Amino acid sequence: MAETAAALKTPTDLKTNATKTVAEALNGLLADTFALYIKTKNFHWHVSGPHFRDYHLMLDEQAAEIFAVTDDIAERVRKTGNTTLRSIGDIARHQSIRDNDSDFVTATDMLSELRDDNLKLVEALRDAKDIADSARDNATSAMIDDWTDQAERRAWFLFEAGRKG
Ligand SMILES: [Fe+2]
Repeated sequence: MAETAAALKTPTDLKTNATKTVAEALNGLLADTFALYIKTKNFHWHVSGPHFRDYHLMLDEQAAEIFAVTDDIAERVRKTGNTTLRSIGDIARHQSIRDNDSDFVTATDMLSELRDDNLKLVEALRDAKDIADSARDNATSAMIDDWTDQAERRAWFLFEAGRKG
């Protein structure tokens, strides 16, 4: 068992304790990114109303962008010698962004909930960046900047699309 786990120990010059803390932050971000991905897809599938086409397409674009980030986050964890999430159950244990299993959500509520979730992700990204900077993990820190910019862009689009007039 220990021998198998040791086989996953990618070499790195970063301090083990520090990379563990960064990995914990990244694994939390990864779980939230998957939770946000499935919620964005859920709303893409279930959105209704007069703006159907616009919202349906926007949510699909956002979901694709969110999904693309998941692999980058997980591989940062592995590059720094740690292990990442392994299952849907693992995602559920780590996520802080809440699922929405409602039978019906209005289009307006979908946009505002996703906007808030993306802004919550931005906060988590800023916290993770502080941890990465303390660990001198500059590559993670730089990648977090891109993920933050993307989440802020999504929040902006969701805010504008949800305006009443
Ligand atoms: Fe689709």
